[in-house]
Amino acid sequence: MTVEATDFALRVVQWQTAHGRHDLPWQRTRDPYRVWLSEIMLQQTQVSTVGQYYGKFLAKFPDVASLAVAELDDVLALWSGLGYYSRARNLHRCAQEVMGRFDGRFPAAAALLQTLPGIGRSTAAAIASFCFGERAAILDGNVKRVLTRALGFDADLSLIANERVLWARAEALLPHDRPADNMPRYTQGLMDLGATVCLSRNPVCDACPLAPLCVARREGRPQAYPVKTRKLKRSAESLWLLWARNHEGAIWLERRPTPGVWAGLFCLPVFASHEALGAVVPAHEQSGLESLPVSVHALTHKDLHLHPVRLTLPVKTLTQGDGGAWFGPAQWPKLGLPAPVRTLLGAPL
Ligand code: ADE
Repeated sequence: MTVEATDFALRVVQWQTAHGRHDLPWQRTRDPYRVWLSEIMLQQTQVSTVGQYYGKFLAKFPDVASLAVAELDDVLALWSGLGYYSRARNLHRCAQEVMGRFDGRFPAAAALLQTLPGIGRSTAAAIASFCFGERAAILDGNVKRVLTRALGFDADLSLIANERVLWARAEALLPHDRPADNMPRYTQGLMDLGATVCLSRNPVCDACPLAPLCVARREGRPQAYPVKTRKLKRSAESLWLLWARNHEGAIWLERRPTPGVWAGLFCLPVFASHEALGAVVPAHEQSGLESLPVSVHALTHKDLHLHPVRLTLPVKTLTQGDGGAWFGPAQWPKLGLPAPVRTLLGAPL
């Protein structure tokens, strides 16, 4: 039996309305700042713990503007006890990017939200569906369990290719009707099912609206899902790439250190921030820096948010440490380049 998408979505929406959670501190608002903050806090922390931190954080930083101008130390102090402090650093950087890139307003689309620091695909979809009613699929750990069981999806999610298939299945199940109303309920419904019914050890199938169509239940083996042979935690990282080129079509490339991302490949110089990138560019060239659209590149265990910054120079000058060189237009396309860098530079794969 294949799961019929309309029936699936309707069951989740109706169940959420009648039996889901409606009084969590971050519900009953469509303010993207509040929803975003809750989703970041909830990424690796239980609902019961997040509650107190959430209120205190909002009292100190009521909006994205106040967070953006805060001292990082003050943000980290309020995060103290929640763990995974890279979340707090990304939160701070994200607030600054929302001010700088989006005029202080969170972009109303999952695809753009995903270009912000600390916001992965599922978090972007959660924010977009809660705040803007966008038909975007979430797929966090709990939702993977719900969907793989309901669908009988038994491919190994350690492999990114299989995870991509599950994302596509998740998208195919989204409600079509009245998304402004139904998407928030559907998204919350999947989260609520994962947290309260479709439990990892002892699922309460009798209380589940998906029981009549659940493949794992019919097989009598909910514990067999999801299939994951390697336990990997996905994370997100932002990298700034300096695309220095000259009028002859030459590009400055450096070899990536080993070990690390893209170890041993030639690559545009990589920086952890826009500021760090700017620091290697001579003062009189600063005005030529051109920020290009951000792209997201999925590694096995990490989403890389790539921020290319282009700089066109008249001659082969660059105040850059050693380890790099200029490569002419006949040379660089032949080098081993990371796939997203190759795509960015416009060379065929
Ligand atoms: N976990 C992640 N997002 C959540 C939300 N909005 N409500 C409850 N639990 C969550």
